[in-house]
Amino acid sequence: MDTVLVLDFGAQYGHLIARRIRECRVYCEIISHDTAVEEIAARQPKALIFTGGPASVYESGAPHCDPAVFSLGIPIFGICYGMQLMAYLLGGEVSPAERKEFGRTEINAATDAPLFEGLPRDLVGWMSHGDHVLRVPDGFRVTATTRTTPVAAMADVDRKLYGVQFHPEVVHTPWGADVLRNFLVNVAGCDTSWTMGSFVAQSVEEIRREVGHARVVCGLSGGVDSSVVAALVHRAISDQLTCIFVDHGLMRKNEGDRVAATFRENFGANLVYVNARERFLKRLAGVEEPERKRLIIGEEFIRVFEEEAKRLGQVDFLAQGTVYPDVIESGVGNSAVIKSHHNVGGLPERMHFRLLEPLRALFKDEVRHVGLELGLPEDIVWRHPFPGPGLAIRVIGEVTEERLEILRNADAIVVEEIRRAGLYRDIWQVFAVLLPIRSVGVMGDQRTYEYPVAVRAVTSDDAMTANWAHLPYDVLERISNRIINEVRGVNRVVYDITSKPPATIEWE
Ligand code: XMP
Repeated sequence: MDTVLVLDFGAQYGHLIARRIRECRVYCEIISHDTAVEEIAARQPKALIFTGGPASVYESGAPHCDPAVFSLGIPIFGICYGMQLMAYLLGGEVSPAERKEFGRTEINAATDAPLFEGLPRDLVGWMSHGDHVLRVPDGFRVTATTRTTPVAAMADVDRKLYGVQFHPEVVHTPWGADVLRNFLVNVAGCDTSWTMGSFVAQSVEEIRREVGHARVVCGLSGGVDSSVVAALVHRAISDQLTCIFVDHGLMRKNEGDRVAATFRENFGANLVYVNARERFLKRLAGVEEPERKRLIIGEEFIRVFEEEAKRLGQVDFLAQGTVYPDVIESGVGNSAVIKSHHNVGGLPERMHFRLLEPLRALFKDEVRHVGLELGLPEDIVWRHPFPGPGLAIRVIGEVTEERLEILRNADAIVVEEIRRAGLYRDIWQVFAVLLPIRSVGVMGDQRTYEYPVAVRAVTSDDAMTANWAHLPYDVLERISNRIINEVRGVNRVVYDITSKPPATIEWE
């Protein structure tokens, strides 16, 4: 399998570049800009891509790579800062632009340049830069310009070094994927055979090799990632895998049963189902503060999991559904803690398992395709993301069984109506939130004084940012009517019209 390495110079959209490369069916990984050149060479990449970044190449402390990478003979494609760095390190000139360019820009491209093959001369693409390349290094030719940018693209065809000032990875550069493909396929000669089928075959081999005859435990949460990892590991080592499903009582309606049934019946997997509902509720009694709820649930989860794993005897590996965005995000050391996400990620330090993370190179949509490849049912594969602490962070204020039951019933109606309207797959997440206040209503000539339910539906690509979904009024109306009529304890339904940022997707 051909590999492309993406050197990250602090790009805001680095993961988008990786996605676009994968969409060309070429496997790639993001690595730090200061990775040693020997290490890069040892990976034998077919090509290197330099990302954009916020710095200026000529400032002290700006991220650079070892200039020796240009002597490796590997095709390199620099994007924005990546191009500026290439120009700077090879003897060109980079300076602050008199007029900065942000947003949609008209670009004039040389159609005989390899990157622009098959594209028209006049293009509209997305720019975002304060510096620009003023003079290209020896051996380079200017292959695109804009009204204010003398070098919007440059190329040294002999050395296979290419750069663009615009961002081919964003949707606002609609022909950007063609430029990337031209580089990957025509220039670098990458094989476009990276598919989920080949991924499954390769992972199964690797898991078998790594695990040998040892035993593996996997925490099933009901979500897509852990379900896919369990199915994949099961395909590789069948009986050597035991799944542990901790039912903390904070699942959506019928969810626990559905997941347990899928793994028992469809896969014949060893499954330990732990009913820990009372334990969790007891520890959550009287707790209102969101971070405390999260910490309690994370801790209790570890405890229950530990107890069950001990019962299994000698187990060497823990299989986890870590996916690529988790890996990228955990690389960012200094971002503020908005919420303490909890999943089985907290387990290994305490438990001395070796980790098996076969999905750590995949994006969410790739994980879903692996799930389909492995025969998981569509309703599990396409299920919306669900937070580790479950409904506890959607019952605002104290979590009680009574309030959980109200929320479960309201949430089931919301999801059912969204599915019925054919909108489920277009929406990133849709759910109900139970608020801790009460308001006055009137039903059947009687005064009511009950809880409101907030409906939250968002569109998003990766949960980092999100927009509230512009749901049709008739769908909202049906959701509202049904909740009020069918769920005891609720007399008002509101729709959350806040994007992220400033809000987050979950309320707590
Ligand atoms: P926020 O609310 O931070 O959520 O905008 C972003 C995405 O993460 C999910 N989420 C979690 N997932 N453990 C998880 O595995 C957690 O503790 C957790 N908290 C939030 C949320 O549902 C959304 O998809």
